[in-house]
Amino acid sequence: MNCCVIGTGYVGLVTGACLAELGHTVVGADTDARKIEMLSEGHVPIYEAELESLVAGNLESGNLNFTTDIHRAVSESEFVFITVGTPSDIDGKADLTQVDEVAREIAAAIEGYKVVINKSTVPVGSTKRVQRVIEESMEEYHEFDVVSNPEFLREGTAVLDFMKPSRIVIGSDSQKAIMRMTELYRGLNAPILVTDPVSAEMIKYASNAFLASKVSFINAVANLCEAVGADVREVSLGMGYDDRIGFEFLKAGPGYGGSCFPKDCRALLAIARDHGYHFELLEGVIKVNQEQHEKMVEKVERAAGGLEGARIGVLGLAFKANTDDVRESPALYVVRQLIEKGASVTVYDPQAMDTARPELEGAGFAEDAYQAAAGAQVLVLLTEWDEFKWLDYARVMQLMDCPSIVDTRNCLDPTVLRKLGFTYEGVGR
Ligand SMILES: NC(=O)c1ccc[n+]([C@@H]2O[C@H](COP(=O)([O-])OP(=O)(O)OC[C@H]3O[C@@H](n4cnc5c(N)ncnc54)[C@H](O)[C@@H]3O)[C@@H](O)[C@H]2O)c1
Repeated sequence: MNCCVIGTGYVGLVTGACLAELGHTVVGADTDARKIEMLSEGHVPIYEAELESLVAGNLESGNLNFTTDIHRAVSESEFVFITVGTPSDIDGKADLTQVDEVAREIAAAIEGYKVVINKSTVPVGSTKRVQRVIEESMEEYHEFDVVSNPEFLREGTAVLDFMKPSRIVIGSDSQKAIMRMTELYRGLNAPILVTDPVSAEMIKYASNAFLASKVSFINAVANLCEAVGADVREVSLGMGYDDRIGFEFLKAGPGYGGSCFPKDCRALLAIARDHGYHFELLEGVIKVNQEQHEKMVEKVERAAGGLEGARIGVLGLAFKANTDDVRESPALYVVRQLIEKGASVTVYDPQAMDTARPELEGAGFAEDAYQAAAGAQVLVLLTEWDEFKWLDYARVMQLMDCPSIVDTRNCLDPTVLRKLGFTYEGVGR
């Protein structure tokens, strides 16, 4: 089946490469000419496990191509995926500028029946909105349907998540589009939930807001654990054995970040506001998360005995391990605050140095974890990369000026570190 994917970012590129792997003919289209040039040569501009080989293999087989010519990509495809960004605007609402732009491009290129699939995370009512924008921009009417098909992949395991999804949600009022979509995804073994477009759009926001709530809940519990002398890791474990609760998203830490949870929680709050519902619970989730970022700064400040002139080493900048994505990463917040409060900060991340560099004015960038630790009074672990768990901490100890570790991900062993002579501070333990 002929597909085009408009927007070759994290979601679009994974979607395109995976559809090609399933045997479809796919064109990835983007306005970013440099990105398209790189992709056409088989170079993937983001760090995502298995993606580079998938792209290279499907380029070679001819199942996958890339172009900046969106008009041609649409006119040659029956399935047109919209996978552009939907960032927050100043009121916290999802900014649909890119989606509208793509809808107008699609309208200009439609000649025969198309299924337009919105995979970007968009507010309720956006399926109708895209339909309207296309209809209003078409010179001559051609048949098309717009489908809401939210994406649930996680950065770091995106290819696996696409190929083995927990569910496929298809939101449409058109029987024809539903049949075509079911056919398109025939190669995937997953439950398919067919629903109306508004419910499909709501499923995505509700899912992300629920997961964010779990994170804020366990962080609030972690703060209480610190006050009463309990260990949040034991508490999470004891809770997680209950099937109704589960182990996922119950790790205390610096708060959630990334390109989805923060903006999607804000967007859901804005949707609620617009519809006259005061979503107090979600307000609390967002507030706890912001406070958690701030608590991490306070922990470092305490460990350093004040931040003015303090030398701090930072391990990890990505919003989580196994990605180079630093969008709304708690690590960026913490590093910026440390610098603002007068500390001299040297950072290191195995994959996110290039994405973080333009975001961190005033920080020093180290070649490796040991260089970040050298001369530091406090070493702060902000992303749970495996390589930080297996550092030679005896060597780290010798390199540091005053051996103190703040482990915001609870991924190091305090007993071992304390034996070596470190002062150790985790979260909720
Ligand atoms: N990143 C994730 O983990 C994830 C997971 C699920 C859903 N989502 C949602 O998917 C959407 C895309 O997210 P992303 O992280 O892939 O974004 P991204 O910023 O990585 O990629 C967006 C791409 O769209 C391109 N683009 C922008 N305007 C364009 C236009 N008019 N025509 C063609 N291309 C255009 C950009 O150049 C960029 O390559 C968002 O709505 C996001 O909320 C993201």
